[in-house]
Amino acid sequence: MRINKTLFAALALSTTLSIHGQTNELVIQTKKLGAEIQPTMYGLFFEDINYGADGGLYAELVKNRSFEFPQNLMGWKTFGKVSLQNDGPFERNPHYVRLADPGHEHKRTGIENEGFFGIGIKNNAAYRFTVWARLPEGGTASKIRVELVKPNSMGEQHAFATQNLVIDSKEWKKYQVILKAEKTEPKSILRIFLDSPTTVDLEHVSLFPVDTWKGHENGLRKDLAQDLADIKPGVFRFPGGCIVEGTDLETRYDWKKTVGPVENRPLNENRWHYTFPHRFYPDYFQSYGMGFYEFFLLSEEIGAEPLPVLSCGLACQFQNEDASAHVALCDLDSYVQDALDLIEFANGDASTTWGKVRAEMGHPAPFNLKFIGIGNEQWGPEYPEHLEPFIKAIRKAYPDMKIIGSSGPNSEGDQFDYLWPEMKRLKADLVDEHFYRPESWFLSQGARYDNYDRKGPKVFAGEYACHGKGKKWNHFHAALLEAAFMTGLERNADIVHMATYAPLFAHVEGWQWRPDMIWFDNLNSVRTSSYLVQQLFATNKGSNALTLTMDMDKKNVTGAEGQNGLFASAVWEASNSSYIVKVVNTTDKAQPITLNFAGMNKKEVLTGGTCIKLRAADINADNTLENPQAIAPQESTITIEGNVYNTELEPYTFAIYKFSKK
Ligand code: AHR
Repeated sequence: MRINKTLFAALALSTTLSIHGQTNELVIQTKKLGAEIQPTMYGLFFEDINYGADGGLYAELVKNRSFEFPQNLMGWKTFGKVSLQNDGPFERNPHYVRLADPGHEHKRTGIENEGFFGIGIKNNAAYRFTVWARLPEGGTASKIRVELVKPNSMGEQHAFATQNLVIDSKEWKKYQVILKAEKTEPKSILRIFLDSPTTVDLEHVSLFPVDTWKGHENGLRKDLAQDLADIKPGVFRFPGGCIVEGTDLETRYDWKKTVGPVENRPLNENRWHYTFPHRFYPDYFQSYGMGFYEFFLLSEEIGAEPLPVLSCGLACQFQNEDASAHVALCDLDSYVQDALDLIEFANGDASTTWGKVRAEMGHPAPFNLKFIGIGNEQWGPEYPEHLEPFIKAIRKAYPDMKIIGSSGPNSEGDQFDYLWPEMKRLKADLVDEHFYRPESWFLSQGARYDNYDRKGPKVFAGEYACHGKGKKWNHFHAALLEAAFMTGLERNADIVHMATYAPLFAHVEGWQWRPDMIWFDNLNSVRTSSYLVQQLFATNKGSNALTLTMDMDKKNVTGAEGQNGLFASAVWEASNSSYIVKVVNTTDKAQPITLNFAGMNKKEVLTGGTCIKLRAADINADNTLENPQAIAPQESTITIEGNVYNTELEPYTFAIYKFSKK
């Protein structure tokens, strides 16, 4: 029997109407495909804030491994005869420690490291201890004992993993031993005893889990990298943020210092150690152990386009009003050269100077860099002035490279209004916008990009998050409003080419900024509802935008007056011929919804319906390390009659409806 689809639809619609009164009819135009959704949607923004790198994603467990913190023994305790030396084998990290006989057989010499908020050790896992060492006074051999220790233990033994290491050379050499733990201990320490009368020198004392992300020795924490991969990100922006600019030029992120052997990468200040005195972390530095090579590699391994951001020669403008703090235009050449060299590092073959560095680090093939950001949150005429020489030089040497400029630190206002036309004048390819804003802002910005200039640069929503008014902690309501806002990014796929939530990571004992997407301690991590929203968008992004409007007035569904707090967008996914509709109910009332797939011809049938919903029992709460699954997407099968689907969307709910076309 041939079913009349229109009749079915009308019947189904009248049922909804009679139960709930006026439905919210969302009409999806299926006939005409809209703009292509860019492969760079949706992405990740990484910055070493909240112990995101050292003490976080970077799996090194020893703090101040090269004894280069300004207080050289910060993070260490010494006992017996330990002295600090400064003529070590690594030019840019000259300090090391000398361990000498304590002078009595019942006395001990050694050092202990406290790690980052302790050292997290997992039961049955193997840990690679490495150290550069030598016998400065000669001798055939000396012995050190390496232990993982739980100092406040009531047990007979403090140590729960022990290995001996023989140092056998007068010359500096790298030694390695594997420690295996038979218990889980989130807050242990690393202790090293000198176990022989012969003096030893120790430098670059390091401890990594053997089981890192993809098994790299200078690797990343597997669980945290997996969190990133599971988003299926389209782009990976690094290394910041304000970190790019530096509190002063000397402490800006200098990518050239972050490549080559890790032992010789110099220490940098981390501005987040002191930026907020109310959350002050005097032991927060950047080892650069996770540097630009590691960022490019990670981008490749998680399938994201790498997007490095470089200093444009302006130190952080929030912290430096005086022009003398910045690079004068006449002195900008070395900064511009850094950008050109970075492109060569990423894409040049092994015969080029910087391509050779990359190849020697283990990646002879190019990283295929396509995008580069110049400057972070800059403003005023000095920004375009500084940006222009970069654009000219990059365009000349690499005409295909896409250059990203900035619209400053605010989502609107004088600086923003000044910089957008400037970016257009300079022909930046994309403009990076930042907005950390309250609920009211997110509710009012559903149509933000609907009327943007289509002839100018594309948009990169490079840092954004809903900061609840009086509720700065992660909670579901903020994530829900981010989802509502993101329907506007999706609808405007022709102009919005990238979007990255910020910040990404936060250690529960070491954060300076919240909300954040992923929280972690020394052993575990938790995906917040903001993470889940990003993931749901990224894994249901579709290949083309579709026009979706609300019944009567044919307006985009942006939470506007008369739209009952609804936000919605729709896409077509060509790979499996499906329609994906995202609807966000931002109100405390259930909303009757009708999805009307208009323009389908008679032979086309919609089948295989799936609905994914993200809701929370308490919209002011979120997933936590203690309860990581409190909020999770719920998937169910749904049935569509003809080309119309009627349903009811619960209060405060983000829903994704998917139907295949046969
Ligand atoms: O994400 C935290 C900070 O917010 C970034 O470093 C900066 O770009 C913005 O102000």
